[in-house]
Amino acid sequence: MRLDHPAAPNSPHERPAAGHATAVAHPNIALIKYWGKRDDHLILPASDSLSMTLDVFSTTTTVRLAPEAAADQVTLNDTPAADEPYRRVTAFLDLVRERARRAERAVVDTRNTVPTGAGLASSASGFAALAVAATAAYGLRLDATELSRLARRGSGSASRSIFGGFALWHAGRGTGADADLSSYAEPLPVGDLDAALVIAIVDAGPKAVSSRVGMRRTVETSPLYRPWVESSRADLTEMRAALLRGDLEAVGEIAERNALGMHATMLAARPAVRYMAPATLAVLDSVLRLRQDGVAAYATMDAGPNVKVLCAGADADRVARTLRSVASRTYIARRGPGACLRTEDGR
Ligand code: DP6
Repeated sequence: MRLDHPAAPNSPHERPAAGHATAVAHPNIALIKYWGKRDDHLILPASDSLSMTLDVFSTTTTVRLAPEAAADQVTLNDTPAADEPYRRVTAFLDLVRERARRAERAVVDTRNTVPTGAGLASSASGFAALAVAATAAYGLRLDATELSRLARRGSGSASRSIFGGFALWHAGRGTGADADLSSYAEPLPVGDLDAALVIAIVDAGPKAVSSRVGMRRTVETSPLYRPWVESSRADLTEMRAALLRGDLEAVGEIAERNALGMHATMLAARPAVRYMAPATLAVLDSVLRLRQDGVAAYATMDAGPNVKVLCAGADADRVARTLRSVASRTYIARRGPGACLRTEDGR
């Protein structure tokens, strides 16, 4: 049995503001998907989700308080952020300031190691790193659960990137403040499981519909949405048991059907939300062929055309080699660490 904890401080006190802090976080890929909110403002999901945090494509974020500044300044890979990305970061900093009872604006510098144009979302690692760095800079001492709840307010999937390994994000109960308290991620115990995710890039362009917009349209218009949420509950129960047994084939089967079901709900939205491209289907065909050849490989897709293929660590090179005939690039990811503060000496 294995638990991965974030290197987060543990007692929920305020502490003197550090003034500046740097944090590192990694993206996660959901094996049971989050698709649809029951509260857009508090970012409360319609159902529980479950993910694996990766050991690649980290985000490093530094937050520095700027007492003289009139507005927050946000830089993303050396480019000043504007519009929606800027507003999402400042709205998130407002939550931190309110909690810390401080008013100073901040300078935020974020760097993603995800290859530019790989078409992979970085909001999960981005808001997890921002939650850890901003709370430290503003002098809040939050435990991992509180950090996860806070990161959720930036982007739902960020709640899971606070933790390394496998994490379960609870949808929470009820509405309003109670629901806010009960919706957070936690690390999941898993059996002896050597899992890898091979990331097959088929299209590096920006997506036509953001996940935020796509999920809202699906909830509001897809007749298949409710049935998917119901089946996702059953998938989650089976997935937890499969993870505990260390049963990679069952984990893969459940993850694949859950993702395909999510894409089916989107296709039934009005108008349809379609992230899959012809090349996505070519990768899915390759994955089927790998299985016919006896390799346990299973696909999952998010709000984009790229495919992530779950397989045993020992098979990852073979899977990546096979997928290279249909994908423009492949990357191999394994289980990665939770979000953590970086110390002065860079560790
Ligand atoms: C398809 O967490 O990016 O990747 O909460 O609106 O910021 P917001 O959405 P986001 O959605 C992720 C959706 C997904 C599935 C998943 O990660 O569970």
